[in-house]
Amino acid sequence: MVTGASGQLGKCFQKLAAREVEIDWLFMDSSEIDITSTKDLRDFFKSKRIDYCINCAAYTNVEKAESEQEKAFDINAEAVKNLAVICKKNHSVLIHFSTDYVFDGTSKIPYSEKDLTNPINVYGASKLQGENYIRDILTDYFIFRTSWLYSEFGHNFFKTILIKAEEKATLNITIAQTGTPTNANHLAQLVLMLIKEKNTNFGLYHFSNSGETTWYGFANEILKVSGNLKNVQLNKDNSYKTIAARPAYSVLDKTKLLEAFKTRLEPWEDAVRELYKSGIQN
Ligand SMILES: NC(=O)c1ccc[n+]([C@@H]2O[C@H](COP(=O)([O-])OP(=O)(O)OC[C@H]3O[C@@H](n4cnc5c(N)ncnc54)[C@H](OP(=O)(O)O)[C@@H]3O)[C@@H](O)[C@H]2O)c1
Repeated sequence: MVTGASGQLGKCFQKLAAREVEIDWLFMDSSEIDITSTKDLRDFFKSKRIDYCINCAAYTNVEKAESEQEKAFDINAEAVKNLAVICKKNHSVLIHFSTDYVFDGTSKIPYSEKDLTNPINVYGASKLQGENYIRDILTDYFIFRTSWLYSEFGHNFFKTILIKAEEKATLNITIAQTGTPTNANHLAQLVLMLIKEKNTNFGLYHFSNSGETTWYGFANEILKVSGNLKNVQLNKDNSYKTIAARPAYSVLDKTKLLEAFKTRLEPWEDAVRELYKSGIQN
């Protein structure tokens, strides 16, 4: 079962599912299951046996969350608690996604799962609360904290830069944050691998592509791989204002994941190139 199935990550799972036909997938978008509705969840779990609940539903508007605190916590925390309770009752493994924004960004080295969390915006606080509920209620769960997700689906920085490159001669992109862009397809592929091998190394993990950059560096790479660098003047911006505070540094240390799952992480630059070459133009 995949909740929030029409979101960016949900659609990456839908893409994978098309060729993983031996798995009985159930994709539920927000009109079919509202994760804040205990009734929706109860009715659904009553009618089906769910081995894995992949929760792609989330309140993800970081800026708006500052003025919609209650809604953000309802979806990212209270609904996640309901999901955890129902998964426990039905012996379903919960696979959930969280964020690098649980950290305050004061570190100078990548954050590990053991590092102290200290969110500096409402979105980060709501996601952390959701994580804590899962860790309190369940043993059979995977939580993947990830960062700067992009893909061919939904609204994301990768697609925005490609569109802006067509429209504008100059782009000013912030250098105020350092993190790691993550191809959402790679995250979905890892989850699929764990499901297929019935992996039981449950717990909290950090997942992103490897390396680090700024949003300016990310934009530069997108323009480079798409052949747009010669058409667009890309400037470093140090005065970009946001409503929500952002961690200045939020690179995730993936050592635990690499050791537990014997996998490899593609460098973020290669991942950007791979997505562009896969056919997405804008
Ligand atoms: N995007 C990033 O850069 C990023 C970075 C770090 C972590 N994450 C985490 O990664 C996960 C996937 O993010 P994403 O980029 O795929 O987000 P997304 O594109 O915004 O998708 C979120 C989905 O959740 C659905 N949703 C919202 N409220 C719901 C509710 N009450 N019940 C059911 N569905 C609901 C939305 O449906 P409607 O549109 O119909 O409301 C949307 O389809 C999230 O947990 C997010 O916090 C994302």
